[in-house]
Amino acid sequence: MNQARTHTPRVFSGVQPSGQLTLGNYLGAIRRFVELQDGAMETIYCVVDLHAITVWQDPAALTDATRQVTAAFLACGLDPKRSILFNQSQVPAHSELAWIFNCVVRLGWLTRMTQFKEKAGKNRENSSAGLYIYPALMAADILAYRATHVPVGEDQKQHLELARDIAAKFNNDFDAPDFFPLPEPLIGGPAPRVMSLRDGSKKMSKSDPSDLSRINLTDDADTIANKIRKARTDPEPLPETVEGLEGRPEAANLVGIYAALAGTSAEAVVAEFAGQGFGVFKPALAELAVSHLTPISAEIRRLMADPAEIDRVLGDGAERAAALAEPILAETYARVGLLRSRG
Ligand code: TYM
Repeated sequence: MNQARTHTPRVFSGVQPSGQLTLGNYLGAIRRFVELQDGAMETIYCVVDLHAITVWQDPAALTDATRQVTAAFLACGLDPKRSILFNQSQVPAHSELAWIFNCVVRLGWLTRMTQFKEKAGKNRENSSAGLYIYPALMAADILAYRATHVPVGEDQKQHLELARDIAAKFNNDFDAPDFFPLPEPLIGGPAPRVMSLRDGSKKMSKSDPSDLSRINLTDDADTIANKIRKARTDPEPLPETVEGLEGRPEAANLVGIYAALAGTSAEAVVAEFAGQGFGVFKPALAELAVSHLTPISAEIRRLMADPAEIDRVLGDGAERAAALAEPILAETYARVGLLRSRG
């Protein structure tokens, strides 16, 4: 008899150590990680190095980027006493559960993933198998902790839906209702999808070839101000209401960024700047972004001067994460019928 279980509310999310972190990562994800840390749920945040290697990474740069993301977590306000912070490859349960999920997920489900299509592009036959099965590892990240809530930017919505499908299929295939929770995406705030500063139809991304398209968390004040000054816009002044931003993706993006940084809504920003041109709005946005981001970049630099301390934080977090994941993995192996007889 399978008893339905209630899952303890628990937050999990991850960030890839591939390239510089952007304002998109900050507003869409990391800042929300910090808000959740202050709530009632246990919070687990992971630097997903195994996901990063689904495309080629220079080994030394990967190690450095893993420490950089950790430093950014800490600089943005994550506290290793209140949250579990670690890098994925230090907890083998992620890979072990991912293998089981590779056998649960259907090829057709993976083929529908838009991120794979975008990343593989025309070079599909030559992309790694890891890039294809990437979402099964992502499901394993979350479900190795039976996490119930996953704060992410909007671009991860489809992967989260797949994680729910994998959880539901596992529960069904192994006749274990509620064995895994169906994790809820937490997507929201005024900037769930921060767009490129050069093209309002593309998301701001660490992999965009143009550095002017994004604000990096490590940019200095002049660089941030310069990128905002050069951001593409249209010639119209800001409208009276948010509806007036429709069909103006670049303007809408800058308003969304302003709102997110100021901790207010797009409506309030538009009300404040209605009728003003970008000659007024851009310097105000630059000042806000600089005052918000430069203390973070200074703190990242300070933390990066002591890599041993960052490694210690990750090692400690990995031990605590493994202690949570191992019993769930053992239960999963037993459910699947994988024999374990080692002492
Ligand atoms: P990654 O490393 O690309 O991005 C990390 C987080 O930042 C968000 N994000 C954005 N949000 C708003 N606007 C943007 N322009 C923007 N760019 C990035 C992403 O949505 C994400 O929340 N597959 C994930 C990492 C991952 C993960 C997980 C997430 C692996 N396992 C388990 C949650 C749970 C990724 O590549 O994120």
